[in-house]
Amino acid sequence: MKRVVIDNRRQALIFKTEEEAYAFCAETFIEQAQKAVSARGSFSVALSGGSTPLPVYEQLANPSTALLVNWSLVDIFWGDERCVPATDPESNYGNALSFLSIPPLDQAKKHRLIGDAPDLGKAAADYEKKLKTICSKGCLDMIFLGLGNDGHTASLFPHTKALTESTKLVTPNYLPEKDLWRMSLTFEAINSARSIYALVLGRGKSKILKRIFFDEKNIDELPGQNIGTEEHPAYFILDKKAAYGLGLKC
Ligand code: 6PG
Repeated sequence: MKRVVIDNRRQALIFKTEEEAYAFCAETFIEQAQKAVSARGSFSVALSGGSTPLPVYEQLANPSTALLVNWSLVDIFWGDERCVPATDPESNYGNALSFLSIPPLDQAKKHRLIGDAPDLGKAAADYEKKLKTICSKGCLDMIFLGLGNDGHTASLFPHTKALTESTKLVTPNYLPEKDLWRMSLTFEAINSARSIYALVLGRGKSKILKRIFFDEKNIDELPGQNIGTEEHPAYFILDKKAAYGLGLKC
């Protein structure tokens, strides 16, 4: 693995293959879980949606790995959710649940972000209350994020209202370009997590990644640029394909 410091709030961890990146994610999850449980008696993590992280959840469900975590002390949240029922193939919760229902992962407490609630504002407020009850001040131990080709992360899409939300931790977010609603943690919640990881894989993401790392900061245009702070730096877990063209000599 090659570690590259991007700036004072972001590092890139570049792996030869996506398999190595997945293995690192699973190892890091276990390490952070064990650290949190020994320090605070529990572990809170927000999972990302989309397709990239699914092999990580599969690895965590692998019997040899699963036994390394006391899942009864784990609280699983989601960084964002589509506004669909949990049984919909689009549901981030539903897709992760296929792995999180495998013993002993099924002992974890899973907190679904209710994207198909009749009142999204109330659902977001209720989720925020839960987050603040379970994690002191709503600070997660760990958050996994992805990056879309348009530079979004979680459901914080370019030119959307949620990007400027500076007090709430959870909010509905209307996406005018897609004419649909999403539910998302805000950057307040994302950047208060004790450990922040963004898993970005494949050549298709290399172009947007270069903009996220090296373009002038413009969060409205490139929300993913806002991942990580000096206090809570973000680690971008990449394979060589995603790191292509970054000029990072990896
Ligand atoms: C979602 C995600 C989103 C995702 C990116 C990347 O609900 O879609 O949470 O932020 O991480 O869109 O998605 P892929 O991993 O499928 O490329």
